[in-house]
Amino acid sequence: MFFDNIVAASADPILGLTEEFKNDTRADKINLGVGIYKTNEGVTPILKCVKQAEKIIFDTETTKSYLPIVGSPEYGRLVRELVLGKDSEIIVADRARSVQAPGGTGALRIGADFLVQQNVTKKVWISDPTWANHFQVFGKAGLETAKYKYYNPETHGLDFEGMKASLKQAKAGDAVVLHACCHNPTGIDPTAAQWEELAKLFAELKLIPFFDFAYQGFGNGIEEDAFGVRTFLKYNSEVLIANSFSKNFGLYNERIGALTIVSADKETADRVFSQMKIAVRANFSNPPAHGAAIVTTVLSNPELRALWVEEVKEMRDRIKEMRELFVKKLSALGVKNDFSFINEQYGMFSFSGLSKEQVARLKEEFGIYIVGSGRISVAGITTANIDALCAAIAKVL
Ligand code: LMR
Repeated sequence: MFFDNIVAASADPILGLTEEFKNDTRADKINLGVGIYKTNEGVTPILKCVKQAEKIIFDTETTKSYLPIVGSPEYGRLVRELVLGKDSEIIVADRARSVQAPGGTGALRIGADFLVQQNVTKKVWISDPTWANHFQVFGKAGLETAKYKYYNPETHGLDFEGMKASLKQAKAGDAVVLHACCHNPTGIDPTAAQWEELAKLFAELKLIPFFDFAYQGFGNGIEEDAFGVRTFLKYNSEVLIANSFSKNFGLYNERIGALTIVSADKETADRVFSQMKIAVRANFSNPPAHGAAIVTTVLSNPELRALWVEEVKEMRDRIKEMRELFVKKLSALGVKNDFSFINEQYGMFSFSGLSKEQVARLKEEFGIYIVGSGRISVAGITTANIDALCAAIAKVL
C-alpha cells in the first residue's frame, strides 16, 4: 500500500505532553509543560480587554469576506509600532513591512520560506537549548540548521563568551534566530550591554538577525522587552521579526502573530513585501481575521489599550510571585540545591536544572508534567499546587 513505509513520528515534546496529561486519570495531576498562562485559580482566562473588543467587533463587523493576502493593513501598522516603537525612524522611512500570520509559528515559517525561496541564505543558527519546534520549523522549510552556545549549566546563566565564539563560526549571510525576550526554555536574556555587543557583532559578521518575539510584556514590560530588537535595528539594517499575540493577549487558539521584515530602504522593502505575499499565498492564501481584529481593536482604543497593559502586568507580576514562592518553598523544604537562580529568569518558564530522569519520576510518581529539558511553566503554578510540586521535587532530587 502507498503508506506502508510511513514511520510513526514521536509525540511533540511540548504539545504531546498535554495529550498525555489529558489521559492521566490522577485527580491531583499538574500540567506545567506547555507555556499557557493560568490565573491563581488555575484557569486560562480571556482577557477583559479581549472580551470588550469582541463585543465591539460583534456589533460592528459587516462582512466575512477575505482579508488581503498580507492581512489587515491597520493590524500591520499597529504591530510595527508595538515592536519597532511608535517613533521609530524605520517607520518614518517606511523600511518595514508586516504580514499577518497564524501565530508566531506561522510567522517564523513564512520568514523561513522567504529566506529559502529568495536564496537569501541556506543556513540558520539556533540557540542551544531552544524552543522545541524551532529546528522543525526552519529545517522543514529547507534551511540547514546549526546550534550556537547559549546556556551555561554550571552558572545557570548565559554563556555569553561561548555564544559569541559560536557566532564567529557562522559565515557572512547566515541567519541567526534570537529570542527577543524571555528566552524559551531558559528564561535567561542578554543584559542591555550584551544586546549592544551582540548587535554590533552581527553587523560586523554580516549575520541576518531573525527575532522570535513571543513574550513581549512578560519580561520587564511591553516597551522594555523590545530593547533587544530595537538595539539590533540601530546597527543592522535588515532584520526579521516574528511576533505572537498568543501569550500577551491570551489569544492562543486564535493563532495570531505577524512577520515583520525591515529592509535597508523603502524600495527594497517593497520588493521584499511582494515576495512575503507569495510566501503567504502559497501557504494559506490569506490569514484568518478574528485574532487580528481583536488586537487591532484593543491597540487602537486608548481605554482598551490601557486595560491590556494592566492585564499584561498582572500576568507578569503573578508569574514573578510564583517564581519567588517556588524558590522560597524549596529552600524551606531543606533541598540541598540552591534554586535562587530561578528568580533571575524572565518570562513564563523556569529552567530548573532537573534531569531527564527526575522529570520522568515527577510524571510517573506524582502526575507532574514538565518538559524533558527540565523546563517548568511557572505560569501554571498556583498557590493550590505549589506545595505538592515542591514536595515532589524535593523527593526526586
Ligand atoms: C511553549 O513553548 O510551550 C509554547 O510556545 C507552546 C508551543 O507551541 O510549544
